[in-house]
Amino acid sequence: MSTGSPKLRLAVLASGRGSNFEAICQAIDENRLHAEVVILISDKPGAPALEKAHRRGIESRLIVPASFTSREAYEQAMVKACQEAGADLVVLAGYMRILGQTFLREFRHKTVNIHPALLPAFPGLHAQLQAVEYGVRYSGCTVHFVDEGVDTGPIILQAVVPVYFDDTEDTLSARILEEEHRLYPEALQLIASGRVVIEGRKVRILSPK
Ligand code: GAR
Repeated sequence: MSTGSPKLRLAVLASGRGSNFEAICQAIDENRLHAEVVILISDKPGAPALEKAHRRGIESRLIVPASFTSREAYEQAMVKACQEAGADLVVLAGYMRILGQTFLREFRHKTVNIHPALLPAFPGLHAQLQAVEYGVRYSGCTVHFVDEGVDTGPIILQAVVPVYFDDTEDTLSARILEEEHRLYPEALQLIASGRVVIEGRKVRILSPK
């Protein structure tokens, strides 16, 4: 890993538990990811992710959509918080909202998400339950750039897990989550090392220099 270059400055957005946020922080601690989390933002009061940030001494902000008069105003506040923190990249880690044009105007191609399915299959909510109910043999997770659609942006990396006949939403979610914790830091490190290039709908991963 190149340590001479400046660290990639991450703004992490999380609505809940924050296990992906933790996995990213761990990868940074273990020098697998040349980055720094400069702010953790949640839209949910009491989200465990906020407490996790606090314990790590990472700046955290609670920005609740309901306290704004419009979606634009909310997204403007989000942009401002990310810019003030000096973020290079916005990392959605279990952030359960759609970001629109107001946000993406400022952070287009600089916002990534992890989704617990093999996109374009099973976008949106309850992806793991959708996979179990459909009866697919394989599912997994996808790290992708965020565009205005629901889980539709260019795909950076995917990981595959088997789906078993007796799987429930919980058992499949746990199997996928393990892969998420490995895949997200790996994708972020590819970005940090300048190896990720968007070419239209596709993403090219450059060989290491
Ligand atoms: C993860 O499984 C993530 O892929 C999913 O929420 C969970 C968050 O867990 N995200 C989505 O479904 C987004 N559409 P975490 O808070 O422990 O990281």
